[in-house]
Amino acid sequence: MSAAVDTDTPLVEVRDLVKHFAPGGGLIAPRNAGAVRAVDGISFAIGRGETLGLVGESGCGKSTTARLLMRLLDATSGQIFFEGQDITRLKGPRLKAIRRQAQMIFQDPYSSLNPRKTVGSIIAEPFAIHGLHRDRGERKREVQQLMETVGLNPEHYNRYPHEFSGGQRQRIGVARALALRPKLLIADEPVSALDVSIQAQVLNLLRNLQRSLGLTVVLIAHDLSVVRHMCDRVAVMYLGKIVEIGPNEPLYGSPCHPYTGALLSAVPVPDPSLHGRPRRLLGGDPPSPANPPSGCSFHTRCPKAAELCSAQEPMLEPKGSGTDVACHYPLSGEEREAMGVGSSAI
Ligand SMILES: Nc1ncnc2c1ncn2[C@@H]1O[C@H](COP(=O)(O)OP(=O)(O)OP(=O)(O)O)[C@@H](O)[C@H]1O
Ligand SMILES: [Mg+2]
Repeated sequence: MSAAVDTDTPLVEVRDLVKHFAPGGGLIAPRNAGAVRAVDGISFAIGRGETLGLVGESGCGKSTTARLLMRLLDATSGQIFFEGQDITRLKGPRLKAIRRQAQMIFQDPYSSLNPRKTVGSIIAEPFAIHGLHRDRGERKREVQQLMETVGLNPEHYNRYPHEFSGGQRQRIGVARALALRPKLLIADEPVSALDVSIQAQVLNLLRNLQRSLGLTVVLIAHDLSVVRHMCDRVAVMYLGKIVEIGPNEPLYGSPCHPYTGALLSAVPVPDPSLHGRPRRLLGGDPPSPANPPSGCSFHTRCPKAAELCSAQEPMLEPKGSGTDVACHYPLSGEEREAMGVGSSAI
């Protein structure tokens, strides 16, 4: 590793990042349609070797954030830094060099693998894409080593994806993502298409790899319970914005944003003695990101909403318990208790 790398600089930093999609996404847009504000001004940093969870309901902008970080989409405005370098508008060979250092794994281990290719050639794809020559023996050795790293039998090198189970296919995706020894791994709902019984195995694999390889990981999920044991910090998104972000302990132990509280309250608890705890489920769907509510965009679903909430957007700032929260009226201890969330509940 180069001695010149400044280890105090976060691996990734995002400043006021925005991605708006044109209305209608195509030819015939309704006359009064606004742009879809998929990501609407988010800022965060991810330290080296850190795992950040990105959580929120469907459509809140998680995958768009991931694709912006990977530079698969161009930002509308804002900045993305990788190891201190502004990569927001990078192009050509310099962008390709950055892309090698960040890899992604996807939700669906069925559609993301080419059914006509052997596992060996799928895992070796990144070598060809990045013009890294390997002779056949060398390539096979590297691929088999990767297969072993992710818990696949290296003798299955010549098999096809359909010969593997869902969990094993996700391992193939992980092996392919690791082939270029990336610094950053973005896992976009890596277990939500898998049986509950094998979700934990894949999450454990990711956690072990994160530790043994010193990877920096962004783990995207709908559900706060999926990221809990894997992440150092968690960012909760709602309609293109981060509404609460902070280290695990305060976020799960004393959530401040009513939305974080609602997401936690909706998580089923395995401990039978807690089954009687109050559960507040979120009603309805989030509003459209093409026409977000004024002020705090959560006010239309928030049990605590007051006049100020529809008039003025709250800033994301430190609030007491150790997280940054965008809320005019953060949850109190009694309110957390009434919702059955926080350290007394889980
Ligand atoms: N290419 C696109 N063109 C137009 N709108 C888009 C495009 N990609 C995403 N969107 C919209 O942007 C918003 C955020 O989408 P995104 O896929 O980032 O959400 P998500 O949080 O990943 O949701 P999910 O949990 O369902 O995967 C949604 O309203 C979506 O319809
Ligand atoms: Mg998504």
